[in-house]
Amino acid sequence: MSTFEVIIYEKQDGIAYITLNRPHALNAYNIKMRDELYEVLGAIRDDPEVEVVILKGAGEKAFCAGADLTEFLTAPSPVIARQARFARDIWGLFLSIAKPIIAVLHGYVLGSGMEMALCCDIRLASEDARFGLPETGLGIIPAAGGSQTLPRTIGRAAAMEMLLTGRWLTASEALRYKLVNRVVPRPDLLPAAETLARKIKSYDPLVVRYVKQAVTRGLDLTLPEGLALETRLGQQLIAQDKK
Ligand code: COA
Repeated sequence: MSTFEVIIYEKQDGIAYITLNRPHALNAYNIKMRDELYEVLGAIRDDPEVEVVILKGAGEKAFCAGADLTEFLTAPSPVIARQARFARDIWGLFLSIAKPIIAVLHGYVLGSGMEMALCCDIRLASEDARFGLPETGLGIIPAAGGSQTLPRTIGRAAAMEMLLTGRWLTASEALRYKLVNRVVPRPDLLPAAETLARKIKSYDPLVVRYVKQAVTRGLDLTLPEGLALETRLGQQLIAQDKK
């Protein structure tokens, strides 16, 4: 089903599966992966058959070990490597998908891998997962939203510690910090995500999208603005139902 080189794309019963597929390089995020994700996320956004998305990594050792450091080293400068990354707003695209995205996290979840997970709506981890943002130590700042999405997810102090000291979190720490929803033994990881996906899929897809929109857009608003947004979306939903 998939015609991509560094990701696998599959669809089954309304669930889309994206697998980062460079296990020999711990699924490091390279320009090819960016381009393929850009294509597949655009397709998912517009595909009425897809109701929920599961994002996972191939191989035993990692969900994703961050940006491909070999591209950093071969680019004329880190700044040029960065510009290539900015050329397509993959993170904006992630955040614009109206359908719920579940991240299935095992092994190394580093740098862009962690930032990708932060763009998802629900994060499940296996007991072996390790989370870190090593950018500061590499002389750069996160470029995939991590400096914004991490503090919004785990709070300012914990995010600062991870960003400023390069501290990694174990799966149980990630659970305590509310970075992940749940930690399960490795064999149970994908089945747990599929159980959630099937539950979400059993609801009206339009309602699911409105709920996701209310939460994600609302997080950037004040409470009164968020409440007004909820009212507006609720009215729109009723109007849709009457059509
Ligand atoms: N970019 C490119 N290749 C990477 C990579 C990355 N970010 N992370 C790992 N790899 C490659 C390694 O070069 C190695 O390739 P090789 O077998 O051809 O030598 C392979 O993946 C396996 O990695 P290895 O380092 O041997 O595994 P490990 O278990 O000893 O260590 C890590 C795992 C994650 C601790 C280590 O690979 C690492 O520190 N990676 C870089 C993480 C990082 O800084 N990411 C960038 C964030 S901006």
